[in-house]
Formats: sequence, structure tokens, C-alpha cells
Amino acid sequence: MKPVIRLSVSEAAKMFGISQRTVRRAIQISEVTYVVVQGRYKINFESLLRWSQRRSRTNETNRASANTSISGKLVASSILLIHSHLERKKNSMQNTFFFLMGLAVLFLNKLRYGLRGYREPRPFAPTDHARAITYDQDVVDQWLKALHNYTGETLEGKVVLELGPGADLGPALFLLDRGARKYITVDANRLIDQTPHRFYEELLKRLDHAEEIKPELEKTLAGNDDRIQYVVDSTFDLTKLPREAIDLVVSQAAFEHFDHVEKTINQLGHLVKSGGVLIAEVDTMTHTGALRGRDPLNIYRYSNFLYRLARFDGIPNRLRPARYKSFLEQNGWYNVEILPLQTMTKEDMERIRPQLAKPFRHDDADMQILTFLLRATKR
Ligand SMILES: C[S@@+](CC[C@H](N)C(=O)[O-])C[C@H]1O[C@@H](n2cnc3c(N)ncnc32)[C@H](O)[C@@H]1O
Repeated sequence: MKPVIRLSVSEAAKMFGISQRTVRRAIQISEVTYVVVQGRYKINFESLLRWSQRRSRTNETNRASANTSISGKLVASSILLIHSHLERKKNSMQNTFFFLMGLAVLFLNKLRYGLRGYREPRPFAPTDHARAITYDQDVVDQWLKALHNYTGETLEGKVVLELGPGADLGPALFLLDRGARKYITVDANRLIDQTPHRFYEELLKRLDHAEEIKPELEKTLAGNDDRIQYVVDSTFDLTKLPREAIDLVVSQAAFEHFDHVEKTINQLGHLVKSGGVLIAEVDTMTHTGALRGRDPLNIYRYSNFLYRLARFDGIPNRLRPARYKSFLEQNGWYNVEILPLQTMTKEDMERIRPQLAKPFRHDDADMQILTFLLRATKR
């Protein structure tokens, strides 16, 4: 984006070698564009330049004025050049900073996850129960809304499979409460042990059918799964799941962590009923809190080689939306939808595009999409 330079009345008069009165007159008769900041005119530099050129053309006999205009134009062009040079320098320093910072974070995570394994599925403390309960409830509400908008169906009597549930069984409880017959889930990491029983006691207060659902939770927590089946498999092999015809597959912020998305989608195909539906929210942004807001595409700055070198358990897989779509279509799913939820502005996108690694620089990668909803139906 071109920088906008604005000058005060006195600066404009000095630069163009004219009186402040002349500048003020140009403002009054709208010959230049301006904004008022704290009661002072700030005149758009480009409009000043154009006005000065017009002035010199209509006043050709007045050599002094023409000379003033030409020298003003020269000074002004130099300022523009310096300004854009400084802007470029600032951008380049910022890019170097984000590149190095993102890389340092990746390698630190590699060390951290190598030592402790995948531990923190959410950007808030597991002890923040109220927030976690609301989070689970919102996630389930979004899934059900997405299902209803897609098929007109409700959850009544459905067998639901969740992929990558994370820290607790909250979604299981909300789904059963809303009418699911059975809930099966699979994770590569056993994370539910970090959630204390007190969390569930609080959550159960929000359910309409708490008396019916509480015993199901207790059975699962004691390892006697019945209507809530919690499976952990570090290889994330879905063929190890109990044989049950699945009506609905749901997932939240987990697909982007899967190592072998195509294999997972292929295995899903054998579990899901014909007409079954997949509803998944996928977060393709940088996950590190400190960089997420300021440089959401940070993870795409690195070549495949460098990113593989930084690899750790749970590192985002950098798959773009179109790949999910084609994996699903190749594995017996149809009516596949990619619905962008969070996107980057076009301007920000074009600014960052040259900084991305080659595989992500082209238009087809849909880099503007930061998070999206994936919906598909099994043939
Ligand atoms: C960001 S958490 C999301 C958890 C939960 N759905 C939520 O919204 O809070 C990512 C989930 O993906 C799982 N995961 C991480 N790496 C994985 C892998 N390589 N294969 C399968 N699942 C993985 C984690 O165990 C976790 O359950």
C-alpha cells in the first residue's frame, strides 16, 4: 500500500515556496484534499502536488511560479522516495524479526514437546473451568448449527464420532444431552486426565438430562465405556475403533494437527454410514499465541525442508483447504464445502505473500483463509 503523506499548511507553504494564504485559499475552494487533526489542516501531499502542477500550467507566463513548482515537485518527489525507502526498510526488518522469532518458537516447541509430549490443547488454563465449559458448549452449538444448515437434520438418535477431543469430555456430555445416542472419540494423546472431576460437576449443572448422563461419564472415567467411548491411540489409527456405523463425524481445531490427513480421511470412509456427515472446524493459522495475531501466516514462511527439521508432535501440518477437499472427494465424500470463518484482508495478504515459502506463495493456496468449516457427506 502506498504511504499517505500529509503536510501542515506551513510545511506546504515552505515546500512549494508560496504563502500560507495561498495554501489556505486552495483548501477553501477544495483544490486540495485534507483532513483536520486536532483543529489543524493536514493536507494530502499528492493532491498538493497535482494542484501545484495545475497552478503552474494555468500560469505559464509566470516563470517564478513555474520554477517554484518544479523545485517543489523535486523536493516532494525526494521526500516520497525517502519515505517509501524507509517504509520498505521497516517492512524488511519486521519480516526478518518474524522469520527468526517464528523459527525460534518452532525449535523451542520441538524441545518442549520432545521433553513433555503434547500437553496444552487450549490457549487457557485447564483450571479455568467456567471458560472451558462455555468453550465446549459453544463448540457443540456451532457443530449442530452447521449440521442443521447443511442437512436440516438434528442430532436425535445419532452415533457421533469426534476426532481429537483434547482436554475433557465436555463435548460428549453436551452431545448426549442434545439427543445423540452414542459418542465415540479418538485422540493421539490422553489429555483428559488433566481435567478434575469438579469440572464435570459444574458442567452437569448446565444439562437438561444430567441424571441420565452422569452415570455414562462415571463409567467412562472408570474405564468401562458404554455410551461414551474414549479411545487413545498414539498412531491415530481409526481402524482400531469399535465397529459402529457412524452418522456424524465432528472435530474442532484438531485436523490441522493430524500427521496423515489423507489416511485418516480414508479410514473414516470405512466407519461412516452412507449419508453420514462430517463437520470440522480447521485452524490453519500459526498457533503460537504471541505470533498468532501479528503474523498469522508465520508457519508458512519456512521451506518444507526447514519446517520438517523443526517437526514435533502436534506441529500444524500446513495443509491448505483445497487439499482437504480433494482428499475427501477422492475417498468417497461429496458435497464438500469449505466455508471460510476467519480471513485476512487482501492488502495484508499481498504484503505478506512474497515472504511466504514457495509452496504457499501462489493464489491457489487460498492463503487468505485462516480458519474454515469443512462439511461433507459420505456416499
Ligand atoms: C488444539 S487441540 C483441540 C482439542 C479440542 N478439540 C478443543 O477444541 O479444545 C488438538 C487435538 O489434536 C490432537 N492431536 C495432536 N497431534 C495429533 C496427531 N499427530 N494426531 C492426531 N491427533 C493429534 C490433540 O491430542 C488434541 O486433542
